[in-house]
This record gives sequence, C-alpha cells and structure tokens, in this order.
Amino acid sequence: MKTGVIVLAAGDGKRMKSARPKVMCEVLEQPMIGWVLDSLFEAGFTAENTGVVVGNGAEIVEKYLNSREITKTFMQTERKGTGHAVMQAADMLDLCENVLILCGDAPFMDAETIKKSLDAHTESGSLVTVVTAEVENPTGYGRIIRDKDGSLLKITEQKDCNDAEKLIREINSGVYWFNSGALKNALPKLQTANAAGEYYLTDAVGIIREAGGKASAFCAENSDIVLGANSRRDLLNLNTIARNRVIGKHLDNGVEFVATDGIIIGKDVEIGQDTKILPNTILRGKTVIGEGCVVGPNSVIENCKVGNNVVLNNVQAYRSRISDNVSAGPFVHLRPDTILHDGVKIGDFVEVKNSEIGIKTSISHLTYIGDSDVGKDVNFGCGCVTANYDGVNKFRTVIGDHAFIGCNTNLIAPVEIGENATTAAGSTITREVPANSLVIERGQAKIIENWEHNSKRIRKA
Ligand code: UD1
Ligand code: CA
Repeated sequence: MKTGVIVLAAGDGKRMKSARPKVMCEVLEQPMIGWVLDSLFEAGFTAENTGVVVGNGAEIVEKYLNSREITKTFMQTERKGTGHAVMQAADMLDLCENVLILCGDAPFMDAETIKKSLDAHTESGSLVTVVTAEVENPTGYGRIIRDKDGSLLKITEQKDCNDAEKLIREINSGVYWFNSGALKNALPKLQTANAAGEYYLTDAVGIIREAGGKASAFCAENSDIVLGANSRRDLLNLNTIARNRVIGKHLDNGVEFVATDGIIIGKDVEIGQDTKILPNTILRGKTVIGEGCVVGPNSVIENCKVGNNVVLNNVQAYRSRISDNVSAGPFVHLRPDTILHDGVKIGDFVEVKNSEIGIKTSISHLTYIGDSDVGKDVNFGCGCVTANYDGVNKFRTVIGDHAFIGCNTNLIAPVEIGENATTAAGSTITREVPANSLVIERGQAKIIENWEHNSKRIRKA
C-alpha cells in the first residue's frame, strides 16, 4: 500500500486522574482517539493500514479499536518517548511507502490537513514533512527551526530550547509524514542524550537531513489541530471549543437555539432547518433530526432517525426511528428498536421497547409496550402493560388496526388482539381476541351489604 498510519496512544495521562487511558477520555462524549480515527478514515485511511501503539490500559483501547475494526496494535511496555513508541510499530514501515504518524490525544486533527500535508510531502520530494502551526503561546511544544531556504532544519523541544528558540511561535503539532524507508533507517540512530532522557521522534528530522534527505514543514491553516488534553481542565476546554463549533455549524444551517445551556451535540449529528433545540438536550451518535421539530428540554437522543415536525419533550430515545408529526413526552423512554410511524402520540411516563407502532396510534399515559407490533389508530388507555417476559423467554404482542385497549389492560404475550377489538378496563388478556369483539376478563362485582368494619370506622357526628 502507498500510505499507512501509526497512531501514538501509549500515554497513560496521569494528570487526567482517570482509570481510563488518556486517549479514551472523551470530547463531546466520544473518545479522543475516536476523533482521530474519524479524521483518518475521512482522509481515506482504512482499518487495514492503521496501526496503534498502546501502553497502560491497552485492553480498554483495544476493545474500542476493535469496535472500529482496527486490529493492528503494538504494545509499548515502557514509556521511553515518541521515538521509542514508533520503534514498537516498525512493522508498519514495511507495509507502506509513506507513513503518517500522529497522536491519539489531539482530537482536532482534520482530514483536510492530513491530505494537504501528504500532497506537500510528495510534491516537494521530502523524506519527512512535519505538520506545524503558529500559536500564541508556544510553551510546552517543540519549536520549528527552519533553514535559510525555508526547509526544516530541526525541532527543538521546550526543555532543550535556548532563549532565542523559546520565542519561536511555529511549533510541532506532533503529526508527521515520513518516507517509510528513511524512517526505518533513522530509528536505530535515535539517542536519549536530551533533557528528558527519551527517544525523541523529532530527532529523526536531523538524522534524515544528515543522510542527505529533504525535510519540510507544512504549516496548518487552523492551529486548533495541535490542541490536546493532559488534564481534566484541558479536556473541559476541548469540550467547550468542540461544543461551540458544532452549535455554530447548526446555527449556520438554520437550526434554532434560544439558549445553549446544557446542550451537547455530537459532531456527527444532523439537524434540519427550523428545528428548535431546547436546553439540557444531548444529541449523540449518528442521530439525524428533520425540519421543524422541537427537541427538549431535558432530552437524550442517541442514534435515532427523527422525521419532520416532531416534538420530543423530556424524552430519552435510543436507536429508534421516529416518523413525521410524532409527539412524545413528557417523561418518555424509547428503548432500542422502537419504530413510531407518522402522527403517533406518546404521552407521559410511557416506555416503548423493540416495538413498531402504527400511524396515529395514541399511547397517552403510564404504559409499557415491549416486543409488540401495534397497528394504526390504536388507542391505549392509561396504565396498560404488555407482559412480554415470563422470566425465561420474551414473547410478542400483536394488536390490529383501530383496536381500543382499555385502561389498565395487561396483555400477556404471546397474544394477539384483532382489528377493531376492544378490551375492557382492568382486563388481563391471555388468549387471542377476535376482530370487532369486546373482551372482558375480570371477576364479576360482588356486593356485601352493611359491611360492619367500615361503619365502625366512620366517626359519629
Ligand atoms: C511531542 C513532540 C513535540 C510536539 C508535541 C505536540 C516529541 C519528542 N515531541 O511532545 O515536539 O510539539 O508532541 O503535542 O515527540 N507517546 C507514546 N509513548 C511514549 C511517549 C509518548 O505513545 O513513550 C504518545 C503520547 O501518548 C502522545 C504522543 O505520543 O499521544 C505525544 O507524546 P507527549 O508525551 O505528549 O509528547 P510531548 O512531550 O507533548
Ligand atoms: Ca503532548
């Protein structure tokens, strides 16, 4: 293959004070390494040409990588610097002509910078191209020292800078394109004679130049690409930047926000114009919301497809499909594999799971619908329950069009209610109910006159 990538993700991030490895700490509810992988895949990399160097907490990172179909990981048992980390993944260098190296804890690296820097790298015939950025405060970063002709002379780490070098504001982003063969030759020559006593990957620049190779610096347009997080404070800062950026994008697309308090929208969420997002609403994953909706307040919508003119008020919805003109809430839980067709109305304290609900059906109050296929224009009274679980197995409930399910009906699955059938309030239905019938399944009322106990309780005037 022509290009491969090595992601450095062995840092433990002690200052984060987390049981998770640093790259698994989240920005907008997605691990930082997930942001990096998104950019890599957008730039055309695949799981096959991606290798990741892992260290402390490797199992946690590997589990996440597997969910993204990445299996090439390289263990760095001791943290001896970025150069040492790349040595662990040296096998990657035999697979590709040019290799991209970047950090798993800098989530804002974007596909455009990756592609443009590769173009610059190949067009200039360089054996190494370092992606750089101009920043206000370069403290902590490696400084870019350019030669008189503008090419890259070397990178000097903060700890090794003299006073003049400290003033340089062009810094190393930690992202590099290397010719794989040149890097392979340079790695054994890295030494630890520096202020940190580590194998610096950045020293490969000088080694390649000494061997007669060309080294370049590619300055990225957006300096946010260098931002990373070493502490919870840094992480909050990244979240603030990402959150404002995402909300800004939706504002530009015609989405309405009266206030942005407590609104967190994942970067891949899509929202149609004139939809209003109210406070304390979290939109996650691959959620797509149509036009003219009102979502929130106090809602969590994850991996859902929502149509147009939908109202979701105090709703928690996961992996569900909600068609046009649905209204749900307040206090509704839509669990995975729920499908609500056009015009469905879900009222307060209703839970729906793994069920399909037909057009204009109404489930207005205090009801649980699980593992059910419900027709159109069905009406549920208050307090209905599908008893879908016998303690061992789950069963389905099927309800025909226009059925009327009376208040406090228990439907013991597997069970089928025919079209246009009615269940009397308080019934517990255990067998099939034919179309157009009324079913009453409850004890006859029995009245005992002059009930002593109660007359004793009533106080005499
Ligand atoms: C590095 C660069 C610096 C650059 C900065 C950008 C070196 C010597 N310096 O510095 O020029 O400005 O990144 O952020 O490379 N890692 C490992 N194993 C290790 C050490 C690091 O996997 O043994 C990983 C870390 O998890 C991290 C990345 O490599 O993702 C960078 O390491 P870090 O220690 O943050 O490097 P800096 O000192 O910040
Ligand atoms: Ca760093």
